[in-house]
Amino acid sequence: MAVRWVFGLIALFGLGGFLAYHQLSRPGEPIPAEIAADPLLLRGREIYLERCVACHGPAGLGDGPLAKSLNPRPRNLASDPWKYGEKPDEVLKVVANGVKDSQMPAWAGTYELPDLKAIAAYVYQIAHKPVPDALR
Ligand code: HEC
Repeated sequence: MAVRWVFGLIALFGLGGFLAYHQLSRPGEPIPAEIAADPLLLRGREIYLERCVACHGPAGLGDGPLAKSLNPRPRNLASDPWKYGEKPDEVLKVVANGVKDSQMPAWAGTYELPDLKAIAAYVYQIAHKPVPDALR
């Protein structure tokens, strides 16, 4: 009798864990069609959500949970003019090398060039700018 209860409880915890995992691992919003249709942006978004949101925020507004504690603040990528330039090689350089004397990390040690380009492309997407051919 008791054994059945124990198994029942284990099954219940298992189910609870599965549901919690499913809930947490689900990205908050559906993927916009223009991103879903573009493998480069899809990859960029995947990395952005994993690596950049803490500082730059989910929509790139510079309002991630860590933002308030940083000086200089993470940039609002969506609507502010880009401080380090608007050209594809300039954005790629910031992503790859980070920004000296700030908390903006260098990602070149973590990602190869194709992924760095995907990240840079997603920065354009966040700002609703067309992705430059140089990043493809
Ligand atoms: C730990 C916090 C942090 C993380 C994580 C982070 N950034 Fe930043 N980022 C910053 C800060 C701070 C600046 C502003 C530097 C400055 O103003 O000099 C910045 C600046 C930038 C800029 C320059 C914008 C401009 O105005 O020219 C880009 C582009 C950028 N980040 C993209 C990213 C991307 C993409 C990721 C993820 C792969 C990322 N950042 C992850 C903190 C962060």
